[in-house]
Amino acid sequence: MPDIYSIIPPLLEWYRREGRPLPWREEATPYHVWISEIMLQQTRIEAAIPYYYRFLEALPDVRALAAVDDDLLMKLWEGLGYYSRARNLKKAAIRIVEDHGGELPADVEALRALPGIGDYTAGAIASIAFGLPAPAVDGNVLRVLSRLFADRRDILSEKVKREAIATLAPAYPRIPEDASALTQALMELGEVLCIPNGKPHCKACPLADLCEARKQNITEELPFRSPRPERTVEERTLLLLIAGDCVALTRRPPHGLLAGMWEFPALEGHLKEEEVRSHLAALGIRPAALERGPAAKHVFTHREWRMRTFIVTLDSPQGNYTYATAKELDRDYALPTAFRTPLATVRERLSIL
Ligand code: ADE
Repeated sequence: MPDIYSIIPPLLEWYRREGRPLPWREEATPYHVWISEIMLQQTRIEAAIPYYYRFLEALPDVRALAAVDDDLLMKLWEGLGYYSRARNLKKAAIRIVEDHGGELPADVEALRALPGIGDYTAGAIASIAFGLPAPAVDGNVLRVLSRLFADRRDILSEKVKREAIATLAPAYPRIPEDASALTQALMELGEVLCIPNGKPHCKACPLADLCEARKQNITEELPFRSPRPERTVEERTLLLLIAGDCVALTRRPPHGLLAGMWEFPALEGHLKEEEVRSHLAALGIRPAALERGPAAKHVFTHREWRMRTFIVTLDSPQGNYTYATAKELDRDYALPTAFRTPLATVRERLSIL
């Protein structure tokens, strides 16, 4: 088995040569690293980059984030999903202003105590932005280590993650100037060479000669993940109520999935046209026209929505909803990514008018 110190020189040499010029690497302030790490938790790098620039332009520092209006925050996060991440950013910013004078603390435990910052993010900010000797173990790093040591255990287990942190921790004091490079090199290797789902690019890998999985010819069998619990499937019927140049929106409840976000009025289950008509009649809504729209699906971590849509044309705004124009939809209302397809249908309708 390779010892962890032996990976340092080839890994860092490779990273210096091949590391990508990502925006948050150019000016790696604690705030920049924090925002990028939270965005990258569920989003691919290329997809996150435009959001990252837009977010920093609107909210250039911790104080701006602490004071941001909630609707603007949701708007800036629209498309990234997992909105609690954005809400936690603001909560943490407020705490940083109140307890740390507006500067992120240069301390793993103090970072870890902030809302939305777990072991991984605390380690990433500490090592990348402050150069502290703190590992940051994400899925990429777990994959690299599972192959390097031919470790067949479940990488989703807490124990395996703890061991990975413990394995990497002693490497950092050996390279006091390079904590940032080591953390990012491990992630980078997992993202560009030691990739998941199929063949990793071992020919280009700086650690190929040290890699136990490669020796045993099992790189494609690793990492091992135990199957996740199945998702609950929820059927929903969305009502796209269009009155002139406006569409009806309603707010979701303040707790639970997509808490407080805007959405199109929805009914549980897949309703037939006749059922939709009688539901509308019960609400005192009189459609001028009613037709089926495109179906849509959205997969959350533990839930899947299968959506049926009806386009309901109205002569005037009706029902207890907020009506928004296309421009207001763009500017003022953050609709979760789950509604991307119905939103496109609505935009199309509103643009014809
Ligand atoms: N993934 C998350 N953070 C990263 C970083 N700083 N570099 C490369 N990949 C990452």
